[in-house]
Amino acid sequence: MEEKALLTINGKNYELPIITGSEGEQAIDISTLRKLTGLITFDPGYANTGSCISTITFMDGEKGVLRYRGIPIEQLADKSTFVETSYLLINGKLPSQKELNGFSVMLNDTSLVHEDMRHFFSNFPRSSHPMGILSSMVNALRAFYPEIPERSEQEELNLTVTRLLSKIRTMAAMSYRISRGHSVVYPRHDYSYAANFLNMMFETPVRPYEIDPDLVKAMNVFWILHADHEQNCSTAAVRLVGSARVNLYAAISAGICALWGPLHGGANQAVIEMLDEIRQNGSNVGTYVARARDKNDPFRLMGFGHRVYKTHDPRAIIMKKWCYKVIEKLNISDPLLDIAMELEEVALKDPYFIDHNLYPNIDFYSGILLRSISIPINMFTVLFAIGRLPGWIAQWKESMEDPEWKIQRPRQVYIGLNERDYIPMSERKDK
Ligand code: SDX
Repeated sequence: MEEKALLTINGKNYELPIITGSEGEQAIDISTLRKLTGLITFDPGYANTGSCISTITFMDGEKGVLRYRGIPIEQLADKSTFVETSYLLINGKLPSQKELNGFSVMLNDTSLVHEDMRHFFSNFPRSSHPMGILSSMVNALRAFYPEIPERSEQEELNLTVTRLLSKIRTMAAMSYRISRGHSVVYPRHDYSYAANFLNMMFETPVRPYEIDPDLVKAMNVFWILHADHEQNCSTAAVRLVGSARVNLYAAISAGICALWGPLHGGANQAVIEMLDEIRQNGSNVGTYVARARDKNDPFRLMGFGHRVYKTHDPRAIIMKKWCYKVIEKLNISDPLLDIAMELEEVALKDPYFIDHNLYPNIDFYSGILLRSISIPINMFTVLFAIGRLPGWIAQWKESMEDPEWKIQRPRQVYIGLNERDYIPMSERKDK
């Protein structure tokens, strides 16, 4: 028996269906609300609004649960690779060995970037932020790889998906190398996805880069943890822009722009900048926790809090473990890790953070891991974007395949001026 929500407006009763997800979460289906009542809902930031039904990722913010296609993130981080997890997210199932080999061959075969694109990279100002370069270059891919009419829609899609997954990694490394005035390192057919990225970033003619399997595993874990997160800001942007039936490259470029924000994917860079500021100001973490509490101070503790998680972000727990593993393996010490640990300890005991359910999110430790692998800070969010790409693709694909899907166009509540006449210039006054 379908449950109903009862609504009374101006003395009139309305029934709205309640839909229940496969994990028991429930939603009031308001898709007929305006037709039935003439009213719309109002939910700035969509904190109470579901934009779609989805089979891709499940999160439980109260229990700190995250699963991709039903598989817990802890198992994928432990047992899978980023390429295999990308296949899982995009195709809905773990690949057979044959399917995985075929996917890897396609990723290898599409890993080079059109040579003419290099002129774009070398003409960006050296100070350009890599996220701005990445969103431009991803959008430019359509110009360099136009649709071929002879290909079937499925062939075109498969090629576009593997091109994006493979080239985003090559373009990220290219933007870094060119920004440093270094020669571009090409991808190698005998390296895995993550090993290729590290090699393209750090190999030099005078100092061959030695592939460390532990760092390759750490990169895979980093990207698996970032691979999808249901309807976050950047995924919502990909779905919204994609709903206008624009090509996939353009929709992904929109997602990259949204992720750039310091309240979203840009937080991993903002966390390191915050920890470094704390260190430079005498490492008094209590001062910063007090500032984060202070309503008159716009300062927020970067890497803390989450729209959905009201307990520990399960990804942060795994990321923290890998910070230690890599730092121990490389036999380095990072004072920012010590400050992060102290900050976490102080904040988690602070009544304000407890009352507001503020816990470390994935960005709190991810920057420390990337620093230990010598990734420059302005590339942190680019690495997040590489990880989130399979999730964006999977979510875009699901929306395009939804028979109910239509262009996204929210409504509004207007509180501006009521009707008034045009004022001739002669009657206008300066403020
Ligand atoms: C990501 O959505 C996703 O899934 C995102 C992500 C993904 O994988 O895609 O998980 C990746 O973006 C993680 C979040 C990274 N951002 C940060 O670490 C930036 C710092 N965090 C905050 O700005 C904030 O917590 C957000 C943006 C993450 C969430 O904001 P919400 O859900 O809109 O919460 P809010 O801003 O309404 O805050 C609720 C209360 C407020 O206090 P009151 O006015 O109710 O008294 O909590 C306070 C806020 O002031 N608060 C914080 C805080 N975060 C929220 N106070 C101090 N420091 C913080 N970090």
